[in-house]
Amino acid sequence: MVSTFLFLDLLFLSIFPVSSGQDRVEQSSEEMTASERDQVIVWCKYITTDTDPYLFWYQQLPNRSPTFILNKLTFGEGTTEPDFKKRFSATLNSTSKTVPLMIKDVRVSDSAVYYCALRPTVTGNTTTLYKNPVNK
Ligand SMILES: *[C@@H]1O[C@H](CO)[C@@H](O)[C@H](O)[C@H]1NC(C)=O
Ligand SMILES: *[C@@H]1O[C@H](CO)[C@@H](O)[C@H](O)[C@H]1NC(C)=O
Repeated sequence: MVSTFLFLDLLFLSIFPVSSGQDRVEQSSEEMTASERDQVIVWCKYITTDTDPYLFWYQQLPNRSPTFILNKLTFGEGTTEPDFKKRFSATLNSTSKTVPLMIKDVRVSDSAVYYCALRPTVTGNTTTLYKNPVNK
């Protein structure tokens, strides 16, 4: 029996106003492999003084731009894109400040870069994209 491996590259991304430089997200692993049908958890820890930040997950397939998967709020449901609803979910824990992304029944086509992103709700100003490549 042949088992198929897929690679999930993890990068993180913070979306925040220029003024609040303390807000960020951290992801522990850089690249992970899994077998088809596994359940995969992609970790993300966020750091912010905001009590009700928005957390986002994006998927970037090879040679594509990042696609929005879902967002989460401390107080509230958040939204998940219909295309991802079946197998992708995240749980926000505001005590541990984590928002792990869970992918059920993982497929080779899920091989992608996954971005965890944070946007504080305190300021209503334009947001800037910051891409922090994990040491590569
Ligand atoms: C959130 O994280 C805290 C600290 O790690 C843990 O004690 C708590 O059980 C978690 N809550 C949920 C709902 O998982
Ligand atoms: C909003 O952002 C713009 C451009 O980044 C900046 O010039 C402006 O001062 C900001 N406004 C406030 C209220 O922070």
